[in-house]
Amino acid sequence: MSFTTFCLLLLSSPTLSYGLDWSSLSNVLSRRGSPSRKVPNAGYYNPLDNGGSFLTKIPVTFPMGQGEPINAIISGHSDNDVLVDTEVNGGLRNYFLSLGFSAECLGQVSVGNQMANLGDGKGYLDETAVLRWNYGDPQLGTCKETIQGGNHFRYWVQDGPEANSGAIFMAVSYEMPLAKHHDIIPNGYNLARDWLIGNITRSTIPTLEVSNTSTYSGSTSADGYTYQSDVIYVSGLLANTSDGINHNLTVPVNGSNAADGLVAVLNVKITERPKTASAAGVSAPIPTWLILPLSNFLLLPFLAL
Ligand SMILES: *[C@@H]1O[C@H](CO)[C@@H](O)[C@H](O)[C@H]1NC(C)=O
Ligand SMILES: *[C@@H]1O[C@H](CO)[C@@H](O)[C@H](O)[C@H]1NC(C)=O
Ligand SMILES: *[C@@H]1O[C@H](CO)[C@@H](O)[C@H](O)[C@H]1NC(C)=O
Ligand SMILES: *[C@@H]1O[C@H](CO)[C@@H](O)[C@H](O)[C@H]1NC(C)=O
Ligand SMILES: *[C@@H]1O[C@H](CO)[C@@H](O)[C@H](O)[C@H]1NC(C)=O
Repeated sequence: MSFTTFCLLLLSSPTLSYGLDWSSLSNVLSRRGSPSRKVPNAGYYNPLDNGGSFLTKIPVTFPMGQGEPINAIISGHSDNDVLVDTEVNGGLRNYFLSLGFSAECLGQVSVGNQMANLGDGKGYLDETAVLRWNYGDPQLGTCKETIQGGNHFRYWVQDGPEANSGAIFMAVSYEMPLAKHHDIIPNGYNLARDWLIGNITRSTIPTLEVSNTSTYSGSTSADGYTYQSDVIYVSGLLANTSDGINHNLTVPVNGSNAADGLVAVLNVKITERPKTASAAGVSAPIPTWLILPLSNFLLLPFLAL
């Protein structure tokens, strides 16, 4: 491999391009202590109170108008750092990693976006991202998920001007292999929610027995951060129905509706941080987001070779 090729590889490596991720930096700066965020007791605003919905919209479904259930919420009472959509400083992406979920295979961009209206005044918006079960391999495991199927979720942030709780709304479902067009497995919305919660408690959640009195808790870790998640199952938000739910011919089985009407609400606290991390995040003398673009710049002359 020539040195030029090596430099090119370096430049295109995720580690370096990560250094150029200005959007996650500006997220950190703008979200931290955002004065307009106001969290109601429940930890989120009910989207139904302001024209929103607990079903997503899928632009390409047949029959038209079917959506997928939003069946989990990360409460706005969670630690501020957890609610920032970043991999650093114990942020949301690192929390998801602690549950075994990573961003899409080799940075692939998802086709088939879904939209949700969280009643926050922003109307229907595409998901922020799709995360997939990584089969224990944060780098390549989501490629396996894409091909073999598995658990995955889309999420949206409730931060519009009319309901700025900062809560994260998730549509969790378990999909079949790519060869089966990523259809959803039988009972795959309720099971996927409960497998996600089972990844927190490390014990099986009894999907046919959960109710609006179910509570769970557990602790997960990634990158030196430990998260305590306290989960309650809430009824009265998502409807207990198969009506209007995507794949509703095959998903409801054994008397359960495609959506059982329960939303898992997670309250997430950081209980342990790496020794070197400060609450303010960017603590190194020269921040990495500055070093990496600089090193790219220094490599530029070699690219002309
Ligand atoms: C439905 O019931 C059958 C028979 O009891 C069982 O084998 C199957 O696992 C159940 N399916 C789901 C998704 O609960
Ligand atoms: C954790 O998630 C995986 C993938 O969804 C699932 O197969 C497994 O059963 C889950 N663990 C528990 C204890 O629920
Ligand atoms: C949902 O409705 C079914 C009947 O359609 C009922 O058997 C079930 O207990 C309900 N589930 C919950 C969680 O309320
Ligand atoms: C729990 O669900 C039952 C119906 O299954 C309902 O009567 C009750 O009000 C619900 N409780 C809460 C706290 O939502
Ligand atoms: C599926 O949802 C449609 C509405 O989108 C409804 O007309 C149909 O009855 C539902 N089917 C089942 C099996 O619930």
